[in-house]
Amino acid sequence: QSVLFAASEVYPFAKTGGLADVGYSLPKALSDAFDVTVVMPLYHTVDRQRFGIEGPTDFFDVMLGIERRTVSVYESRFEGRAYLFVYEPQLCDRDYLYGPPGEGYDDNAQRFGLFSYAVSELARRLQSDIVHLNDWQTALTALIIAEDDTLKASTVYTIHNLAYQGEFPKSALSALGVDKRHFTLEGIEFYDRINLMKAGIGYADAVTTVSPTYAEEILTHRFGCGLEGYLQHHRAKVTGIANGIDTEHFAPQSDSSLFRLYKTPRGKHANKKHYLAEAGLCDAELPLFIFIGRFTWQKGIDLLLEALPQMAALPCNIAVLGEGEPQYAPRFEKAAEAHPNIHLFFGYDEALAHRMYAAADFLLMPSLFEPCGLNQLIAAHYGAVPVVHRVGGLADTVAPVAYAPEAQSPCGIAFDAATPEALLGAFEAALGLFNDAKAWSRVATHNMKADVSWGQSASAYAALYRKISGSALK
Ligand code: GLC
Repeated sequence: QSVLFAASEVYPFAKTGGLADVGYSLPKALSDAFDVTVVMPLYHTVDRQRFGIEGPTDFFDVMLGIERRTVSVYESRFEGRAYLFVYEPQLCDRDYLYGPPGEGYDDNAQRFGLFSYAVSELARRLQSDIVHLNDWQTALTALIIAEDDTLKASTVYTIHNLAYQGEFPKSALSALGVDKRHFTLEGIEFYDRINLMKAGIGYADAVTTVSPTYAEEILTHRFGCGLEGYLQHHRAKVTGIANGIDTEHFAPQSDSSLFRLYKTPRGKHANKKHYLAEAGLCDAELPLFIFIGRFTWQKGIDLLLEALPQMAALPCNIAVLGEGEPQYAPRFEKAAEAHPNIHLFFGYDEALAHRMYAAADFLLMPSLFEPCGLNQLIAAHYGAVPVVHRVGGLADTVAPVAYAPEAQSPCGIAFDAATPEALLGAFEAALGLFNDAKAWSRVATHNMKADVSWGQSASAYAALYRKISGSALK
């Protein structure tokens, strides 16, 4: 069976978040069982030479309402897998994928509408059995395929983050070429605006989200972002499948970014000493806590900043890597000025992130909501203990430390209330664990062995693909 996997960002070609990592690692995990082609826009920031991207190898027109647009298709066999890239100037020739930090381009409806039409045309040309769509940027493809009798593919729509729904003024309807009869409560209308997320939920044959707990949470007012009712209506086709990580890429025993390779938590010490020196922090006997992530409210940055002075007053080192909304960096700086045991690195550096995972004793992840989260899986795999807010994928992938070594998933420390006090309580529990060297090492050893690969979850997607394409017996 052939699968066309469409995403607006795929690692290593273009990445703003976890969607890109899944765009790389899930198709890779599925490629033994299915003939998978990945398609994404050929943004002008994508390095064609480095990734062997050739073309154009194909052209076709798509209609955006009454406008005809010519799309060109490029190809690469990156790491032996098939990748297609769609090029069209309005979609691709921009400084950012979606817009400057915290903003979206005004014409994103047209840009990703165009991409969505291109994906459906590629599904026709490739005669794909399954088209797997991801987030609002490709959601319209579900509606296009459902409405076109000449398109036979079954569709899966995965919600990576319900907080971003692709909302636009209704005037974009004609530019998107969507018939007015879909502008209803059952269709893509949302408070008199267009909501592309609804096209994915309403028209795909199956809807998944990236953890079982998030699949339940999004049916509630607290996490549903206004779509809880719509999701409840469609709940029979919604399931949660937790993300995995690519354990070939994230592998402490062979990771070329590390100072020293290791197979057990004992091997972390040399990496920790090396990293502390690099960061200008001292005392490798103190526990090292790291935070890695985008500075946005979702990630619980406000909780972290509020608890930070009290955490840093305790015997520990804390290192932060990230960037994002402009209000946060000065607040971090203020805390770091008062506490020399806080180290900040603003920006994003993949190799540095790997060195931090290798050095860390604990990962802080106080997200207010978290559809899945990947950093807790990476940290655990590198022998660190996650300290997390018990929501979404964090609830599914971090078991209590008392469950090591029997737990299926990694173990860590979770807190329930979204308050700085609760975070601080978990932080203190982490210090307590660290002071019992044997106990910490039991958990870290368990975490390194725990299965965080795509194995089981890729099988769950495979089963879903077979179910919706009506070939469950194959
Ligand atoms: C989004 C979510 C994150 C998830 C990732 C990949 O970035 O916020 O929780 O892990 O998508 O599915």
